Amino acid sequence: MKSTFLQGSSRASLVAQHPSRRVSSRTLVLRVSAKRPGENPVKAKSSTKQGLQHAKQDIVQLLKEKPCYPIMVRLAWHDAGTFSTENTPDWPNRGGANGSVRYMEEQAHAANAGLHHALELLRPIAEKYDDVGNADLFQLASAVSIEEAGGPDIKPRFGRRDTYKPECCVPEGRLPDGNAGPDGTFPDGTKRPGDHLRKVFYRMGFSDQDIVALSGAHTLGRARPDRSGNGKEDTKYTKAGTPQVGSGSPGGSSWTVQWLKFDNSYFQDITEQKDPELLVMETDDVLVKDDAFRPYVQKYAADQNAFFSDYAEAAIKLSELGVEWENEPFVLN
Ligand code: HEM
Repeated sequence: MKSTFLQGSSRASLVAQHPSRRVSSRTLVLRVSAKRPGENPVKAKSSTKQGLQHAKQDIVQLLKEKPCYPIMVRLAWHDAGTFSTENTPDWPNRGGANGSVRYMEEQAHAANAGLHHALELLRPIAEKYDDVGNADLFQLASAVSIEEAGGPDIKPRFGRRDTYKPECCVPEGRLPDGNAGPDGTFPDGTKRPGDHLRKVFYRMGFSDQDIVALSGAHTLGRARPDRSGNGKEDTKYTKAGTPQVGSGSPGGSSWTVQWLKFDNSYFQDITEQKDPELLVMETDDVLVKDDAFRPYVQKYAADQNAFFSDYAEAAIKLSELGVEWENEPFVLN
């Protein structure tokens, strides 16, 4: 089963490269509205251990009130995943986990559609503490979300330097797309989803194992037609009133049945592909089809502990991409 919708950043590239192609006006409206929060970005700050410990308690409280684990994980990944090991300029222009996703310029990238919701949820915490940096806060929110959702206890290091002006944002196009565009090509020119994944993740310094482990984050959350262009309006697992939605917002297509639980069901579901209510993008499907990716899918589907341990290791690597440390990095207890 494959989504028939165009993925959001494919749309952006299409608009840029092929202006004559039809692009839904709805998407464009949403992209404009996604800019608003970035017009007032939280200032650059440095973290202290004490500040982050307080912020951690506030994040736990926020997650109790609103189970927004998935979008917090996506926010931290999209901040970090802009890093490139190729022709890398000096910090702050090399991408990575530097807080630049809070700027309007980066939120306007099609791949980041919808992330303003995560920024607005974190804003009260970001503004409450003068000693909590934005880049650290995003990575902290992701680690806490995964733990609260039942996943591994990830212990990232903190002390990232925050980017301090919109000019620090990297150009659009560094994050992956789930499906090729209508011409069968991904925006980076690759035609096969495996080549696309490797081009994007090798650029960040990741291995095939890391790609599979990190893709397992799709055990959480949903894709929505009005954000990325993927998925359905809703499914039997995301409709209002279903137990999975709980106090969260309904809609979209999830990759797993219990999409607010961090477990290894993603790997079982993309292997079986039996349930048409669950999403499988081309970049999910290729993990099962590709000879080098498949052994990791099989391992993680059979052994949740192996997934948790490899995920935690890759997530820490992700959280440190492109980082400049203010001082000696530290971990929270
Ligand atoms: C492997 C390449 C990847 C592709 C092509 C991809 C693509 C996508 C897309 C299209 C969405 C739907 C966004 C929306 O419509 O709101 C999404 C959601 C999500 N992604 Fe990925 N992603 C990838 C890797 C990752 C990684 C590495 C992580 C984290 C480590 C991650 C975490 C998430 C989460 C948690 C969501 C759900 C967000 C929500 O429910 O609000 N993804 N991804």
